[in-house]
Amino acid sequence: MTQVPYLITALDAATHDRSLFNSGTPALDRYLREQASQDIRWRVAACFVALADAGRIAGYCTLATVNMPLPGLPDALRRKLPRYGAVPAIRMGRLAVDTAFKGLGLGGALLVNALRRSAGTEMAAAVLIVDAKDEQALSFYLHYGFVPLQDSPMTLFLALASVR
Ligand SMILES: CC(C)(COP(=O)(O)OP(=O)(O)OC[C@H]1O[C@@H](n2cnc3c(N)ncnc32)[C@H](O)[C@@H]1OP(=O)(O)O)[C@@H](O)C(=O)NCCC(=O)NCCS
Repeated sequence: MTQVPYLITALDAATHDRSLFNSGTPALDRYLREQASQDIRWRVAACFVALADAGRIAGYCTLATVNMPLPGLPDALRRKLPRYGAVPAIRMGRLAVDTAFKGLGLGGALLVNALRRSAGTEMAAAVLIVDAKDEQALSFYLHYGFVPLQDSPMTLFLALASVR
């Protein structure tokens, strides 16, 4: 994977300028500008930004804990897990790279960083879940080995035990 010289850190709404971020997907840009800091304040989601030179936000992702119902997971993984109705999971709700930085390895770097954070947390989480908003996003996640859920193929997961 391409190495990128970006700093990936928690969004600090007081110092990071979110106004210029343009991923080409207005809903993702609007979220960063208008909603992310409120979600952080209320601990609804954590938001991590990749900072390029001069502190410009080149990409971001959000992480939050969710319950993953076991019936959604493939049989092969379900057999390894205890027979609870659901397992703890982390959802990467949003991932976006500014159009000026696409194709430079940054989306992959943010994804790997999110996997490291999710696998490294002291709080238990069995899988990282992502939602693909379209076919391109789906193919991006498949490229990284994510597995589509049986009943909801635009939602994909990676078992965090395999990441460790
Ligand atoms: C999807 C997105 C995050 C990818 O970011 P990016 O910085 O352009 O991607 P990278 O340069 O990091 O690509 C990393 C690797 O993924 C591959 N890749 C990138 N986009 C891909 C795609 N759509 N399908 C398959 N592989 C893809 C690259 O070829 C590269 O492979 P390599 O490491 O083997 O060389 C970015 O295009 C984006 O912000 N899209 C709009 C929002 C979006 O779709 N978010 C996804 C969640 S809904």
